[in-house]
Amino acid sequence: MFVTFEGCEGVGKSTQLTFLKEYLEKTGQKALYIREPGSTDISEQIRKVILDPKNTEMDPITEAMLYAASRIQLVKQVIKPALERGELVICDRYVDSSIAYQGYARNLGADTIKEINAIAIKECMPDITIFIDLKPQDSWRKVQLEDRMEKESRDFHNKVYDGFVEEMKKSGGRIVAVKPDIDKKVTSRKIIEELIKAGAIK
Ligand code: TYD
Repeated sequence: MFVTFEGCEGVGKSTQLTFLKEYLEKTGQKALYIREPGSTDISEQIRKVILDPKNTEMDPITEAMLYAASRIQLVKQVIKPALERGELVICDRYVDSSIAYQGYARNLGADTIKEINAIAIKECMPDITIFIDLKPQDSWRKVQLEDRMEKESRDFHNKVYDGFVEEMKKSGGRIVAVKPDIDKKVTSRKIIEELIKAGAIK
Protein backbone atom coordinates (compact mmCIF):
# COMPACT_ATOMS: atom_id res chain seq x y z
CA MET A 1 0.00 0.00 0.00
CA PHE A 2 1.12 3.51 -0.80
CA VAL A 3 0.14 6.20 1.72
CA THR A 4 0.82 9.92 1.31
CA PHE A 5 0.46 12.91 3.63
CA GLU A 6 -0.47 16.37 2.38
CA GLY A 7 -1.28 19.79 3.76
CA CYS A 8 -0.22 23.43 3.95
CA GLU A 9 2.96 24.64 5.69
CA GLY A 10 3.19 24.26 9.45
CA VAL A 11 0.07 22.12 9.95
CA GLY A 12 1.90 19.48 11.99
CA LYS A 13 2.49 16.96 9.21
CA SER A 14 5.92 15.96 10.49
CA THR A 15 4.63 15.49 14.04
CA GLN A 16 1.82 13.29 12.75
CA LEU A 17 4.24 11.24 10.66
CA THR A 18 6.38 10.72 13.77
CA PHE A 19 3.32 9.57 15.76
CA LEU A 20 2.32 7.18 12.98
CA LYS A 21 5.84 5.76 12.88
CA GLU A 22 5.74 5.22 16.65
CA TYR A 23 2.36 3.45 16.37
CA LEU A 24 3.56 1.19 13.56
CA GLU A 25 6.76 0.32 15.43
CA LYS A 26 4.84 -0.42 18.62
CA THR A 27 2.47 -2.73 16.75
CA GLY A 28 5.27 -4.44 14.82
CA GLN A 29 4.37 -3.09 11.38
CA LYS A 30 7.18 -2.26 8.97
CA ALA A 31 7.08 0.69 6.59
CA LEU A 32 9.34 2.69 4.31
CA TYR A 33 9.33 6.40 5.21
CA ILE A 34 10.20 8.95 2.53
CA ARG A 35 9.63 12.62 1.78
CA GLU A 36 9.23 14.79 -1.28
CA PRO A 37 11.06 16.44 -2.84
CA GLY A 38 13.97 14.19 -1.92
CA SER A 39 14.73 10.69 -0.59
CA THR A 40 17.18 9.68 -3.33
CA ASP A 41 20.62 11.25 -3.93
CA ILE A 42 19.47 12.80 -7.18
CA SER A 43 16.11 13.96 -5.76
CA GLU A 44 17.88 15.61 -2.80
CA GLN A 45 20.11 17.51 -5.22
CA ILE A 46 17.04 18.66 -7.17
CA ARG A 47 15.39 19.67 -3.85
CA LYS A 48 18.27 22.06 -3.14
CA VAL A 49 17.80 23.79 -6.51
CA ILE A 50 14.01 24.08 -6.07
CA LEU A 51 14.01 25.42 -2.53
CA ASP A 52 17.07 27.69 -2.71
CA PRO A 53 15.80 31.22 -1.85
CA LYS A 54 18.41 32.62 -4.27
CA ASN A 55 16.57 31.08 -7.24
CA THR A 56 14.03 33.90 -7.46
CA GLU A 57 14.02 33.86 -11.29
CA MET A 58 12.77 30.26 -11.55
CA ASP A 59 9.93 29.90 -14.05
CA PRO A 60 6.82 28.10 -12.68
CA ILE A 61 7.08 25.45 -15.42
CA THR A 62 10.73 24.81 -14.52
CA GLU A 63 9.64 24.49 -10.90
CA ALA A 64 6.85 22.04 -11.76
CA MET A 65 9.21 19.97 -13.91
CA LEU A 66 11.89 19.85 -11.23
CA TYR A 67 9.37 18.54 -8.69
CA ALA A 68 8.26 15.98 -11.30
CA ALA A 69 11.86 14.97 -12.06
CA SER A 70 12.62 14.49 -8.38
CA ARG A 71 9.40 12.42 -8.11
CA ILE A 72 10.08 10.16 -11.10
CA GLN A 73 13.53 9.35 -9.75
CA LEU A 74 11.95 8.41 -6.41
CA VAL A 75 9.17 6.37 -8.04
CA LYS A 76 11.58 4.38 -10.22
CA GLN A 77 14.36 3.95 -7.69
CA VAL A 78 12.44 3.48 -4.44
CA ILE A 79 8.62 3.54 -4.41
CA LYS A 80 7.79 1.08 -7.20
CA PRO A 81 10.36 -1.53 -6.18
CA ALA A 82 9.16 -1.31 -2.55
CA LEU A 83 5.50 -1.68 -3.56
CA GLU A 84 6.42 -4.64 -5.76
CA ARG A 85 8.06 -6.25 -2.73
CA GLY A 86 4.74 -5.78 -0.92
CA GLU A 87 6.00 -3.11 1.46
CA LEU A 88 4.02 -0.28 3.00
CA VAL A 89 5.33 3.05 1.69
CA ILE A 90 4.58 6.30 3.55
CA CYS A 91 5.50 9.50 1.74
CA ASP A 92 5.50 13.05 3.14
CA ARG A 93 3.96 14.95 0.15
CA TYR A 94 3.54 13.64 -3.40
CA VAL A 95 1.82 14.65 -6.64
CA ASP A 96 -1.12 16.35 -4.87
CA SER A 97 1.38 18.94 -3.57
CA SER A 98 2.37 19.70 -7.17
CA ILE A 99 -1.30 20.07 -8.09
CA ALA A 100 -2.00 22.39 -5.14
CA TYR A 101 1.24 24.46 -5.22
CA GLN A 102 2.16 24.58 -8.91
CA GLY A 103 -1.29 23.87 -10.39
CA TYR A 104 -3.46 26.11 -8.23
CA ALA A 105 -1.15 28.57 -6.43
CA ARG A 106 1.23 29.13 -9.38
CA ASN A 107 -1.76 29.12 -11.73
CA LEU A 108 -0.41 26.46 -14.11
CA GLY A 109 -3.66 24.52 -13.79
CA ALA A 110 -4.24 21.04 -12.43
CA ASP A 111 -4.37 19.49 -15.92
CA THR A 112 -0.91 20.80 -16.89
CA ILE A 113 0.52 19.37 -13.66
CA LYS A 114 -1.14 16.02 -14.27
CA GLU A 115 0.37 16.01 -17.78
CA ILE A 116 3.86 16.81 -16.49
CA ASN A 117 3.46 14.08 -13.86
CA ALA A 118 1.84 11.52 -16.17
CA ILE A 119 4.54 8.88 -15.66
CA ALA A 120 4.33 9.05 -11.87
CA ILE A 121 0.54 9.11 -11.96
CA LYS A 122 0.38 6.14 -14.34
CA GLU A 123 2.91 4.01 -12.55
CA CYS A 124 2.24 4.89 -8.97
CA MET A 125 -0.75 6.61 -7.35
CA PRO A 126 -1.35 6.59 -3.60
CA ASP A 127 -4.00 4.19 -2.27
CA ILE A 128 -4.88 6.74 0.39
CA THR A 129 -3.82 10.33 1.02
CA ILE A 130 -4.24 11.96 4.41
CA PHE A 131 -4.87 15.69 3.98
CA ILE A 132 -4.22 17.57 7.22
CA ASP A 133 -7.03 20.05 6.83
CA LEU A 134 -5.88 23.30 8.42
CA LYS A 135 -6.07 26.71 6.78
CA PRO A 136 -2.81 28.70 6.46
CA GLN A 137 -4.05 31.48 8.75
CA ASP A 138 -4.58 28.93 11.53
CA SER A 139 -1.04 27.58 11.27
CA TRP A 140 0.85 30.63 10.07
CA ARG A 141 2.81 31.37 13.24
CA LYS A 142 4.70 28.08 13.17
CA VAL A 143 6.08 28.58 9.66
CA GLN A 144 9.74 29.55 9.34
CA LEU A 145 10.14 31.83 6.35
CA GLU A 146 13.30 30.13 5.14
CA ASP A 147 12.92 28.31 1.84
CA ARG A 148 11.61 29.63 -1.47
CA MET A 149 8.11 28.16 -1.06
CA GLU A 150 7.70 29.21 2.59
CA LYS A 151 8.58 32.78 1.60
CA GLU A 152 5.59 32.98 -0.76
CA SER A 153 2.71 35.31 0.10
CA ARG A 154 -0.24 34.54 2.30
CA ASP A 155 -2.45 34.68 -0.78
CA PHE A 156 -0.27 31.99 -2.42
CA HIS A 157 -0.67 29.69 0.58
CA ASN A 158 -4.43 30.28 0.68
CA LYS A 159 -4.57 29.14 -2.95
CA VAL A 160 -2.58 26.03 -2.00
CA TYR A 161 -5.21 25.22 0.63
CA ASP A 162 -8.08 25.76 -1.83
CA GLY A 163 -6.24 23.54 -4.33
CA PHE A 164 -6.03 20.66 -1.87
CA VAL A 165 -9.74 21.00 -1.08
CA GLU A 166 -10.67 21.02 -4.80
CA GLU A 167 -8.54 17.97 -5.53
CA MET A 168 -10.00 16.16 -2.54
CA LYS A 169 -13.51 16.66 -3.92
CA LYS A 170 -12.41 15.18 -7.25
CA SER A 171 -10.44 12.29 -5.77
CA GLY A 172 -13.31 9.83 -5.33
CA GLY A 173 -12.47 9.25 -1.67
CA ARG A 174 -8.71 8.73 -2.10
CA ILE A 175 -7.88 12.00 -0.35
CA VAL A 176 -9.23 11.95 3.20
CA ALA A 177 -9.33 15.19 5.20
CA VAL A 178 -8.37 15.03 8.86
CA LYS A 179 -9.03 18.19 10.84
CA PRO A 180 -6.32 18.59 13.47
CA ASP A 181 -7.41 18.63 17.11
CA ILE A 182 -5.62 20.83 19.68
CA ASP A 183 -4.53 17.53 21.19
CA LYS A 184 -2.03 16.10 18.68
CA LYS A 185 -2.62 12.57 20.00
CA VAL A 186 -6.31 12.87 19.10
CA THR A 187 -5.35 13.88 15.56
CA SER A 188 -2.99 10.93 15.40
CA ARG A 189 -5.77 8.55 16.49
CA LYS A 190 -8.04 9.94 13.75
CA ILE A 191 -5.33 9.38 11.12
CA ILE A 192 -4.64 5.84 12.32
CA GLU A 193 -8.37 5.05 12.19
CA GLU A 194 -8.58 6.30 8.59
CA LEU A 195 -5.57 4.22 7.58
CA ILE A 196 -7.02 1.12 9.27
CA LYS A 197 -10.36 1.73 7.51
CA ALA A 198 -8.53 1.94 4.15
CA GLY A 199 -6.75 -1.35 4.89
CA ALA A 200 -3.32 0.29 4.75
CA ILE A 201 -2.35 -0.62 8.31
CA LYS A 202 -3.64 -2.76 11.19
P1 TYD B 1 9.53 20.87 3.02
O1 TYD B 1 10.53 21.57 3.87
O2 TYD B 1 9.68 19.41 2.83
O3 TYD B 1 8.08 21.30 3.49
P2 TYD B 1 7.04 20.66 4.47
O4 TYD B 1 7.74 20.37 5.76
O5 TYD B 1 5.99 21.73 4.58
O6 TYD B 1 6.51 19.42 3.79
O7 TYD B 1 9.55 21.61 1.60
C1 TYD B 1 8.82 21.21 0.56
C2 TYD B 1 8.19 22.42 -0.04
O8 TYD B 1 7.91 22.17 -1.42
C3 TYD B 1 6.87 22.80 0.59
O9 TYD B 1 6.78 24.20 0.62
C4 TYD B 1 5.85 22.28 -0.38
C5 TYD B 1 6.55 22.40 -1.70
N1 TYD B 1 6.14 21.42 -2.74
C6 TYD B 1 5.64 21.89 -3.95
O10 TYD B 1 5.47 23.09 -4.14
N2 TYD B 1 5.34 20.98 -4.92
C7 TYD B 1 5.54 19.64 -4.75
O11 TYD B 1 5.26 18.84 -5.66
C8 TYD B 1 6.07 19.17 -3.50
C9 TYD B 1 6.30 17.72 -3.27
C10 TYD B 1 6.36 20.11 -2.53
